[in-house]
Amino acid sequence: MHKIGFDVQGFRKNFPILEEKNSRAKQLVYFDNGASTQKPQCVIDAITDFLSHKNANVHRGIHFLSERADSIYETTRAELAAYFNITDKSNVIFTAGTTNGLNIIAKCYAQETLQANDEIIISDQEHHANIIPWQQVVKLTGAKLCVCRSTSRGDFNLDNFKSMLSTRTKIVSVPYITNVFGARYPIEIISELAHKAGAVFVLDGAHCLGHKPIDVTALNCDFFLCSCNKGYGPTGLGFMYAKGHILQQMKPYEFGGNMILNATFDDASFKDIPDKFETGTPNTIGVAGALGAIEFLKSIDFEAASKHATDLVTFAVEELTKIDGVDLVLNPTNRAGVISLVMKGVHPHDIATILDTEGIATRSGHHCAQPLMKLLNLSSTLRLSFGLYNTFEEIAFCCDVLKSIRSIL
Ligand SMILES: Cc1ncc(COP(=O)(O)O)c(C=O)c1O
Repeated sequence: MHKIGFDVQGFRKNFPILEEKNSRAKQLVYFDNGASTQKPQCVIDAITDFLSHKNANVHRGIHFLSERADSIYETTRAELAAYFNITDKSNVIFTAGTTNGLNIIAKCYAQETLQANDEIIISDQEHHANIIPWQQVVKLTGAKLCVCRSTSRGDFNLDNFKSMLSTRTKIVSVPYITNVFGARYPIEIISELAHKAGAVFVLDGAHCLGHKPIDVTALNCDFFLCSCNKGYGPTGLGFMYAKGHILQQMKPYEFGGNMILNATFDDASFKDIPDKFETGTPNTIGVAGALGAIEFLKSIDFEAASKHATDLVTFAVEELTKIDGVDLVLNPTNRAGVISLVMKGVHPHDIATILDTEGIATRSGHHCAQPLMKLLNLSSTLRLSFGLYNTFEEIAFCCDVLKSIRSIL
């Protein structure tokens, strides 16, 4: 497919929703991409096409619609695998998202293999999805959850991490990009060090799809999780990758239809991977949309797009730091397009509400990272998170509104 290059105005044309206006006729400025990106027309078309011409359950019927649905389903699996350089597509398990994937790992791998005094290392910038499932494992096994503290700027602290590793470390689970400050973790080094200590490396890749593709095989991930909605694909769909020998050793997460080889009233045997983990009727509509998203992502020139993304966040940091009374909460040196800020005397929810009246969609709250907020002695921040369709003009406009909020309140 022809590469899009990076013409932001051309890129924006793929997203019909960017033309929306709020009830005051203010044009949408969408800065809530850390939660979910918007969807390009080709994803909307892929879903419409599936529902209009291919809709059926997969892996069941022998009618032609079921065959079409099967073909979309398995093609998407293969395309996702290829996108992240995963050599065996059977090791890609469709999930409802990263949270679902981490729960599967916690319950079916960690709970079964960890023992008292074993250790799981995470960082202090985790989303609840990469904390709470491990907490449950710790409660059941007697293992310990160890939290690696960030540097004062909000970067991953390799020295702390190295000092925490030992033969007790069994799992290291970190994100590539953190959701509150957009810190980009040095995952190559973390993976290498984790393996040297004899641990498995779990990469929370919730935000990976919308960025330059990463190479899951070269990174030597034992587990990799991804959410499609953060990478221009549909909500309610993600996938879990694990190395084949690990998936073979893991028990199924749920039991029921689709995963059965043979069942009696007394017992059952299960299909091989990936079906063993895909119980019940899957999210076929989401999978069809994800295929559209992959086609779209493959058409992006990520060298040019990544430069645009870096320039956007650099510009935003520069402009925001000039606003009197606005403080960036941490400012990682190695970062993606996510910025958290506070304004003296004004609650983040109030800022978000006023920005919304100007059409600017942001996020305020604890961002599903309450332990991190508690460490920082904060209950809430305002988060601006950028997508590739965002522009310098939008950031400048947001800064102007923030300045006026500051002068009025
Ligand atoms: C870093 C990170 N990990 C995990 C998750 C959970 O992803 P999902 O809600 O798709 O399960 C999120 C969601 O925002 C996230 O930002």
